[in-house]
Amino acid sequence: MTLYDIPAPAKLNLFLHVTGRRPDGYHVLQTVFRFIDLCDHLHFDLRRDGRIEREGDTLPGLAPDDDLIVRAARALQQASGTPLGAQIRCVKNIPSGAGLGGGSSDAATTLIALNRLWNTGLSRDALMVLARPLGADVPIFIFGQPAFAQGRGDEFTEVALPERAYVVLRPHGSVSTAEIFSAPDLTRNTKPVIISVFAHWLASGAQEIDGLAGNSLFGRNDLEPVVLSRYESIRQMVCGLQKQGFRARMTGSGSCFFVEFNTQEQASRARQEISSKMLEGGYESAWVCPGLPQHPLRHW
Ligand code: C5P
Repeated sequence: MTLYDIPAPAKLNLFLHVTGRRPDGYHVLQTVFRFIDLCDHLHFDLRRDGRIEREGDTLPGLAPDDDLIVRAARALQQASGTPLGAQIRCVKNIPSGAGLGGGSSDAATTLIALNRLWNTGLSRDALMVLARPLGADVPIFIFGQPAFAQGRGDEFTEVALPERAYVVLRPHGSVSTAEIFSAPDLTRNTKPVIISVFAHWLASGAQEIDGLAGNSLFGRNDLEPVVLSRYESIRQMVCGLQKQGFRARMTGSGSCFFVEFNTQEQASRARQEISSKMLEGGYESAWVCPGLPQHPLRHW
């Protein structure tokens, strides 16, 4: 049995506020997650010998036991007690160290797909329990809906987001999440937003005019100034965008930035404009990505 071409979408953090720090060193966050149509693709072949074998794109230098896909598969094996295994191939399109949650999404897709391939019948809540120890960004891909997230970034309230398209830009160089979160100059005391205020603002239609980036309450990623002060190439890319009139926002702990548009046509035009006017070497790659209404495996 095979599950072929199973998508693992990227996410954006439309804003990201750091409101405190927990005793375990993790930070208390408020953020809105949105899935976008930039996907890795995974293939799963059933193995009856119980082995988990990994093929395809992997992170250079990563030990197989540290691979999030392998860890997710083993976690499900252990929790369910299945004697089955799998051959897993991943075709990567989402860059790593980019703030797009690619590795986390691959892990969540592995949990969801193997739960089906192995017929292990775990509920979403049970998969969520397996997802949490794999990383702070894995649970949102199990939750499967655009969400306002709090706590470690894994306590969710579903939100309905309007249709939007994004130009996502990857600057040169990647960013270490742990380094950015541990920076002494990181703002860790942003005043928490009340979710009903956010929901009201979304419903009011104000975001049609300003977009999230233009809103003073939700207009920030607290990790962004830390990244811009440390990575000159990223700062230059953002300055280049600003000169062209594009307000870009960082996702997660970077390195990618995104610009929001009402339609895919507008985003495509902007992408062309950006690539024709940005100085050579201004960024490594750029994608036009529609926002997804929900995770493609939401109903699996
Ligand atoms: O959980 P994960 O390994 O993906 O997190 C990577 C790093 O990001 C952690 O080591 C931690 O430094 C930081 N982090 C944090 N607070 C969060 C999420 C991540 O401090 N809520």
